[in-house]
Amino acid sequence: MISIRPYREADPAAVEALLDRSFGPDRQKKTVYRLREGVAPVQELGFVAFDNKALRGSLQFWSIQVRPLRTDGEPVPAILLGPLAVEPAYAGRGIGMGLMRVGLQRARQLGYRIVILVGDLPYYSRVGFHREGAEGLRLPGPVDPNRVLIRELVDGAAAGLEGLIEKPADAGAEPDEIAGHREAAP
Ligand SMILES: CC(C)(COP(=O)(O)OP(=O)(O)OC[C@H]1O[C@@H](n2cnc3c(N)ncnc32)[C@H](O)[C@@H]1OP(=O)(O)O)[C@@H](O)C(=O)NCCC(=O)NCCS
Repeated sequence: MISIRPYREADPAAVEALLDRSFGPDRQKKTVYRLREGVAPVQELGFVAFDNKALRGSLQFWSIQVRPLRTDGEPVPAILLGPLAVEPAYAGRGIGMGLMRVGLQRARQLGYRIVILVGDLPYYSRVGFHREGAEGLRLPGPVDPNRVLIRELVDGAAAGLEGLIEKPADAGAEPDEIAGHREAAP
C-alpha cells in the first residue's frame, strides 16, 4: 500500500537517484534548476511516497518570487512546484496526484498564496494549474512558455502578476527569517 510521508523520512540519495532516472542525468541544466541552486527546498513541503519502505515517488517545492519588470512594485512571493517524480513501474496509480494534493493542501495551510511550475498542462490541469495568468511570467533562462503554469491558493492572489521569476530575496537566510515571507497560517 502506498503511503505519503514527509520527505525527511526518505534517503536523500535514493530521491536523487529517482530524479535522475525520471528526468535524465542532465536535469540540472534545466532553467528551473537555476532557481534552486544554493537554495534549500521548503522543508515542510517535501513529501515522498513509500510502498512499504520502498521509495516510489517524491515531490518538493522551492520558494521563489516574481519581480515586476514593467513597474517598480515589490516582488511577489510564490512557490515553485517540483521536481515531481514517480517510479516508472508505479506510474498511473495516482501517486503523482496524491503527492500534489497533499503538498498543495499543506502549502495553503502554511499560508502560501501562489504556486508556479514548468510542466505539461494536460497533467497539471488536473490539480488546478492553468496558463491563464501565467503569460506575463519570465524565467531566468530558456523555457517553453506554454509549459509555465500557475495556480492560486488564495483567490485573486495572482491577479495582474507579471515579471521575472527569481530566487527569493532571503535565499540562504535562516528558516525563521524565511517564515516571515508568507502569511500567518490561519
Ligand atoms: C508525470 C508523473 C509525475 C506522473 O505520475 P503518476 O503517479 O504516474 O501520475 P498519476 O498516477 O497521478 O496520474 C496518472 C494520469 O496522468 C496521466 N499523465 C501522466 N503524465 C502525463 C503527462 N505528462 N501529460 C498528460 N497526462 C499525463 C496519465 O496518462 C494518467 O491518466 P489516467 O488517469 O487518465 O489514466 C510521472 O510519470 C513521472 O515521474 N514522470 C517523469 C518525470 C516527470 O515528467 N515529472 C513531471 C515533470 S513536468
